[in-house]
Amino acid sequence: MSRALVLYHSLFGNTKTVAMSLAKGLQESAIEVDCYSIDDVDVTEIPNYDLVAIGSPTHMIKPSKEMKEFLDELKAIELKGVFGFSFDTRNESRMNSKSFLILENSAARSIEGTMKRMKMKIIRPRVSAIVQGREGPLNAHAEEAFIQIGREIGTALAN
Ligand SMILES: Cc1cc2nc3c(=O)[nH]c(=O)nc-3n(C[C@H](O)[C@H](O)[C@H](O)COP(=O)(O)O)c2cc1C
Repeated sequence: MSRALVLYHSLFGNTKTVAMSLAKGLQESAIEVDCYSIDDVDVTEIPNYDLVAIGSPTHMIKPSKEMKEFLDELKAIELKGVFGFSFDTRNESRMNSKSFLILENSAARSIEGTMKRMKMKIIRPRVSAIVQGREGPLNAHAEEAFIQIGREIGTALAN
C-alpha cells in the first residue's frame, strides 16, 4: 500500500482544514496517510513516504516564515523521485494573474519550486484555497475540492 504524508503550517486553522480534507481524500483512495503540522513531524521519517504534500498560508506572496524555515530543513533530506504536491491558502488577488508570474501570490509556488529543485516528482500542479480576510473562513466548497483532489492524487499514486 502506498504511503502519503500531508504536512502543513497554519496560523488560523484554514490551511490545517484543507490539509485534513486532502488527507481524507487520499484515505478514500486506499492510501495510508499521516497528516501533521510541520511542528510535529520527524523529518528523518519523511523519506519513508511515496508522496509528500506540503501546504502553507501565503504571507507576503510567499510561504509563512515557519514554512520557509521548515523547507530549509527539508533541503537536507534526500527526496529525489518521491512524489510531491504543494498547496496553500491565500486571499483572492489581482496578482494571481499569470502576467504577474514572478510575483504570483502563492506560497505553493515556492513550495513546488523547492520540491522541483529537490528532484521530487510533481504529481499534480499546485492548488490554492481562497480564504476571506486573514482569518478566513475558507470559501465555500474548498474542503470538498481538496477531498476530491486527494482522491484523484490517491488514484494516480496507486496506479
Ligand atoms: C502576515 C500575513 C501576511 C499575509 N500576506 C498575504 C499575501 O501576501 N497574499 C495573500 O493572498 N494573503 C495573505 N495573507 C492572508 C493569508 O493568506 C491568510 O491569513 C491565510 O491563508 C490563512 O491561513 P491559516 O488559517 O492557515 O493561517 C496574509 C496573512 C498574514 C497574517
